This record gives sequence, structure tokens and C-alpha cells, in this order.
Amino acid sequence: MFVHEVLVSAPAKVNLALRVGPPRLDGFHPLDTVFESLDLYDDVIASPGEGISVTIRGLGEDLPTDETNLVVRAALLLKERHGVDEGVRLEVTKRIPVAAGMAGGSADAAATLVACSRLWNLNLSLHELLSLGAELGSDVPFSLLGGRAHGVGRGEELERIGSDMVHNWVLLTSEQGLSTPAVFREFDDIMGYTRVPETLVADTVDLRDALNRGDRQAVRDHMVNDLEAPALSLRPDLHETMQILRGRGYCALLSGSGPTIAVLAEDAMEADDLAGELSRLLPQCGVLRADGPARAADIREEK
Ligand code: C5P
Repeated sequence: MFVHEVLVSAPAKVNLALRVGPPRLDGFHPLDTVFESLDLYDDVIASPGEGISVTIRGLGEDLPTDETNLVVRAALLLKERHGVDEGVRLEVTKRIPVAAGMAGGSADAAATLVACSRLWNLNLSLHELLSLGAELGSDVPFSLLGGRAHGVGRGEELERIGSDMVHNWVLLTSEQGLSTPAVFREFDDIMGYTRVPETLVADTVDLRDALNRGDRQAVRDHMVNDLEAPALSLRPDLHETMQILRGRGYCALLSGSGPTIAVLAEDAMEADDLAGELSRLLPQCGVLRADGPARAADIREEK
């Protein structure tokens, strides 16, 4: 059946654990990570158009809409691989903060792949979408999978984690973003790493065991992010925020390569209260509420 408009929503993520090894010979770092999707979504609406055009609403209105935007690259990749002649008009509504360590750009790319695949009637399987997603960026496949997953390789080799533990988060965002490559470079500088054949120094096995056992306290105890030190070294203000949070006994974690800090509450009610409390305590931060795990990038509406 042909459609003339498709709306796809794609989730943000946090990494419950992010272990990072020395850079591989191709410059990427081997990861052992646990992704959790959040019910904070960007939307992409795809409809027929001339060429590929993109408009962005909400956060990130001043982002480029040329081929440097992952949304455009996702549509181009699909066109090229599947010999599509048609164009597409893409309207992106961004709620996931930009350059925040929550995979907002990857979510938009994932949503575009799903939306264009439907609009152009390509009927791609999840497997085909995941492999195209991996070409676009390390976090794109996870946005296509959703839920919770163990990631290795660059983060694109995924295995679902079936635990049904719900997490209620307060997200502390920064006005100024952080560049992911810059955080990885700082990681190498701090660790004294140079490129080597693939090795990983630590893994997420304890965290995954805790998730599978449903042991909430052990999950908290095994949350760790190897990019915290480099991100905090580039942004001393985050270091201060982290100290305040941990000094008060909160379970605070840097999200991905930062600068967003995710604070885990005991339940949804406590998270709602905590959001109010943290916006008073840390007026320099933006405060968002989100719960995980959440849905994958999927079609919400079509006509
Ligand atoms: O895969 P993606 O394009 O999202 O990665 C952005 C940048 O982050 C890469 O160019 C690289 O500098 C860094 N990166 C890395 N190792 C990874 C993932 C990302 O060094 N596993």
C-alpha cells in the first residue's frame, strides 16, 4: 500500500555503562556498553518532494540542513542503495537536546531510514535497516532497536537485553554541547593511548548480570562511564555539578560523551520531585524528565 505521509518517532538514549578501550587502527574506540532508550523522542515526517529537503523545528533550529546533516545522509544512502528516483520532504521536530550525549542526531537518522523506507515502499527488514544505520553512525542501530541492549564493536553490534526493570531519570542538560570526537581525543590524551589492534580493557558483564537478576541496587553500583573523566576535564563546570550531586548522595551518571548528566530516582514520583529540586539547586542546567527503556524508532502515523 502506498502512503503520502509517514510520521516516525525515535528515542534518545543513555548508556548505563560505557567501557572504552584504546583506539583501533581505524581510529574508532572499541566499546562495551549497555544502552537504554528513553521516552524522549524526535519526530520525522516524510512526504513526497523534489530532491531532499529538510526543515527543523524545536531544538536545533539552526542546525545545517545540507549533506552534513545525518537526516540528509540517511535519505541519500537509502536512495543510492535501492535505486530510488523519488525525492522526499523531511520535517524534523527535535526534543532531544543537540550535541548532548543522548544520540539525538542518530535518532533523527534512524527515524529517516524508517520513514523513507515506508514512503518509498522498500519494505526493508530490521536487519537491513540496522546495517544501513551502522554506516551512518555508531549509535544509529540502537535507536532502530530501542529497549535495552548490549553493544560492542563501535557500539553498533547489538544484542537485546530482556530485563523489564524501569528507570526514572532526571536529565540535566547544558546550554553548550560537547563534541564526541573531542571527548574521545581527550580520553586518549588522559590514558596515554595510541592506535593499537583492537583491545578492550573492561566490560559490562556485572551490570548485565544485575539487570538480568532484577537487582536494582547492583545495577546502580555497576553504572560507569569511561568518558566521564575526559568530558569533565574539558568542562570543569560539569565536574562541579557532579560533585554537588554525588555529595548529596544522588546516583548521577554522564550520558554518553556528555554533557548531559542523568540522575536516577527510585520511582516516577521521586523523579518528578527531584526534577523540581534540581532545577532550584542547579539553575544553570536545563531539566528534563524521562523514563527508560522506551520504544524503538517506529511508525506512529501514516496516511
Ligand atoms: O560513529 P559516529 O560517527 O557517531 O562517531 C562520531 C565520532 O566519535 C567518531 O568520528 C570518533 O571520533 C568517535 N567515536 C570513537 N569510537 C566509537 C564511536 C565514536 O572514537 N566507538
